[in-house]
Amino acid sequence: IESQFVPKHLLGKQVLITAGPTVERIDPVRFLSNDSSGKMGVALAEAARDMGAYVTLVHGPLQVPVPDGVTAIAVESGSDMLATVLARFDDQDLVIKSAAVADYRPKTVHTEKHKKVHGPLTIELEETTDILKTLGEKKTHQLLVGFAAETENLEQHARDKIARKRVDYLVANDVSQPDIGFRSDDNEVMLFRADGAHVRLPRQSKRELAVELLTHFKEDLR
Ligand code: CTP
Ligand code: CA
Repeated sequence: IESQFVPKHLLGKQVLITAGPTVERIDPVRFLSNDSSGKMGVALAEAARDMGAYVTLVHGPLQVPVPDGVTAIAVESGSDMLATVLARFDDQDLVIKSAAVADYRPKTVHTEKHKKVHGPLTIELEETTDILKTLGEKKTHQLLVGFAAETENLEQHARDKIARKRVDYLVANDVSQPDIGFRSDDNEVMLFRADGAHVRLPRQSKRELAVELLTHFKEDLR
């Protein structure tokens, strides 16, 4: 889709998107992370920009370039991402949390490189703060969109997450399907709305899917 053919449905709106994995440090040279490429979040940022929005992209390490014309803020950990998003939350009309935030982080972060010891090593993990849930508790006028990656019971898990995190929309990926989702250029998702409505968005490029998703969200912008 060429940018000039995208309707300016988001003209003047403030849109914040999170993308990519988070990085949770173990020591100065090691970390825990995940397979997220950031492609879906970057596609959303690009599409929102083309639709006329002011876009802020808060991102972990990306496998694709940051698009021109968006305000990009690089972060590492989930707690950095939380602070960065919270500081900008009040100004936003639409917040889309497509980042793959780590659920756990090492309980102790070593300031020196951890030395090899003989025998097994145990790293104790603690739960991270749920950014989306925190935003759901704080939202006033903002439209809030979450993502979910599931391998089973997609619909049930999606509905649970909508209720638990107080989101307006949830975009659910079936990650058990080969070559869509995480690292792919294509995606196929189910879009659930808080009122129970849902629609299947068939396999297409992440760019095309981004335009379609944003076209749904704009209907509910306040
Ligand atoms: N999320 C978040 N902060 C976290 C974990 C998840 O903001 N610490 C957000 C993700 O960005 C995503 C949504 O919550 O938009 C759903 O993430 P997901 O991993 O599917 O849900 P979880 O609640 O972590 O449940 P689980 O991993 O057990 O499926
Ligand atoms: Ca999770």
